[in-house]
Amino acid sequence: MATTYEQITARELKPALLELDGISRETIEAHYKLYQGYVNKRNEILGKLDGVDLSSANQVYSDLRSLKVDLTFAIGGIKNHEIYFEHLGGIGGDPAGAFADLVKRDFGSVDAWKADLKATGLAGRGWAWTAYDWDEGRLFNYLGDAQNTFPVWNATALVALDVYEHAYFIDFGTDRAAYIDKFFDNLDYDVVNDWVQRYGIRK
Ligand SMILES: [Fe+2]
Repeated sequence: MATTYEQITARELKPALLELDGISRETIEAHYKLYQGYVNKRNEILGKLDGVDLSSANQVYSDLRSLKVDLTFAIGGIKNHEIYFEHLGGIGGDPAGAFADLVKRDFGSVDAWKADLKATGLAGRGWAWTAYDWDEGRLFNYLGDAQNTFPVWNATALVALDVYEHAYFIDFGTDRAAYIDKFFDNLDYDVVNDWVQRYGIRK
């Protein structure tokens, strides 16, 4: 396939991520390696797609299918984890500022937003996201089962809650609910508010 692409590299892990409250350095280091794996996979798949000969039809379609599905998994894995790692390392508590205004408008209260995101995380298999949907003009807590299911077009994730077992099993065993509570305790809402401003999301 005559496309060109650039190799990308993994973002560095913020030092604060190694000193989270209740989520261990061991977990974060293992988790970061998974993220690096998604970056490597993305580069590898794009390289393979460059080598696919579209003129030899039948075999190509099955190869193409698996490469293109895997590409969504890899790129989804990169984006999800870049949000996750970037907005941890804070002091949790209740959000203030623009994000808090959006949450209160669209969920009624901060507690209601937290309760809904937590329940979504307990119901999902991989992710729960608080995303601003540009067409709806509001926040939703969307559910994801994997890196590539079920993001919605034209929505921007502002909070990404990883509920894969790798995110918590070392520290919490099967107690996902306790992990989600700690996730909130470690959120950096300044980072989330920076994104709200950068993306130009207005109440
Ligand atoms: Fe993860």
